[in-house]
Amino acid sequence: MTKALSFLKEIDFTQAELMDLIDLSLKFKDLKRKRIPHKYLDGLNIALIFEKTSTRTRSAFTVAGQDLGMNVTYLGAGDIQLGKKESVVDTARVLGSMFDGIEYRGFKQEDVEALAEHSGVAVWNGLTDTWHPTQMIADFMTLKEYFGHLEGLTIAYVGDGRNNIANSLLVTSAILGINVKIIAPASLQPDPEIVTIAEQHNNGAELTITDDLAAVKGVDMLYTDVWVSMGEEVDFKERIDLLLPYQINADLVDKTENPNVIVMHCLPAFHDLNTEIAQDIYNKYGLAELEITDEVFQKYSSAIFQEAENRMHSIKAIMYNSLKNL
Ligand code: CP
Ligand code: NVA
Repeated sequence: MTKALSFLKEIDFTQAELMDLIDLSLKFKDLKRKRIPHKYLDGLNIALIFEKTSTRTRSAFTVAGQDLGMNVTYLGAGDIQLGKKESVVDTARVLGSMFDGIEYRGFKQEDVEALAEHSGVAVWNGLTDTWHPTQMIADFMTLKEYFGHLEGLTIAYVGDGRNNIANSLLVTSAILGINVKIIAPASLQPDPEIVTIAEQHNNGAELTITDDLAAVKGVDMLYTDVWVSMGEEVDFKERIDLLLPYQINADLVDKTENPNVIVMHCLPAFHDLNTEIAQDIYNKYGLAELEITDEVFQKYSSAIFQEAENRMHSIKAIMYNSLKNL
């Protein structure tokens, strides 16, 4: 039997393999649009472990799994023994004996790697502190839908350049050969280890790390993410002071000088006061919008929500690719 293929981080895949996953995602989107049934993995069982909260990733794995004919079991942080009474390795051995695939969202990358090693089944990284690889397939799929091609594009990520999304965008762009700029204040620029990984896997992309916002000139896409990621314990005020100049607002969009630029965000986004956390930040610091203004968010919302929908189609492609040979 062919061994199930995990999806733990982008560098485990070649440029061609990632491109194939993007194209397969587009095919699954077409099947779904045409309401053509695709229960290709009928009767398999998958578990979804979430140690951090999620809307998109959880929903995407659930719907994608069900569309493929699989039984999907959600195992939330408070539901299982993992980490408290039982190690990752023991949990992996148990779940691997019952499930055909396991999604894991958590903190340490080494935990998702251990889960894959000791479960013996396909494991999908639904986000760790280091990488968010399933997000990348949706993001580059969305770019391909908008521009019709990926070759020759230049993208810029503006904001916290040390988080999982920035890491994944830098490395995935390098593998795919797409020019990428990480624009962040010096203290929030990517870890040198991540930059080295990107350089080692670079297929001809121009990789730029800078604190200079003028670098957005001419880019095809602007991307941002929250200023404080899940599980980070930092002084929020300090982050705001560092990152407010890097907010995606109308002025920054104008600086691209590209009338066809699109704006993307993995979501959730702090663009208005309609959440408890946003209200709390507003009460403390008087800021009503953080990483992206509401004006820009609404203007580019069709791309942003298309990107969110694409999480489901791309996760379906990733799971199918892992399990099709079982
Ligand atoms: N983008 C993303 O991963 O969203 P969730 O945290 O809602 O899953
Ligand atoms: N950087 C964010 C991404 C959320 C999808 C976080 O880790 O919280």
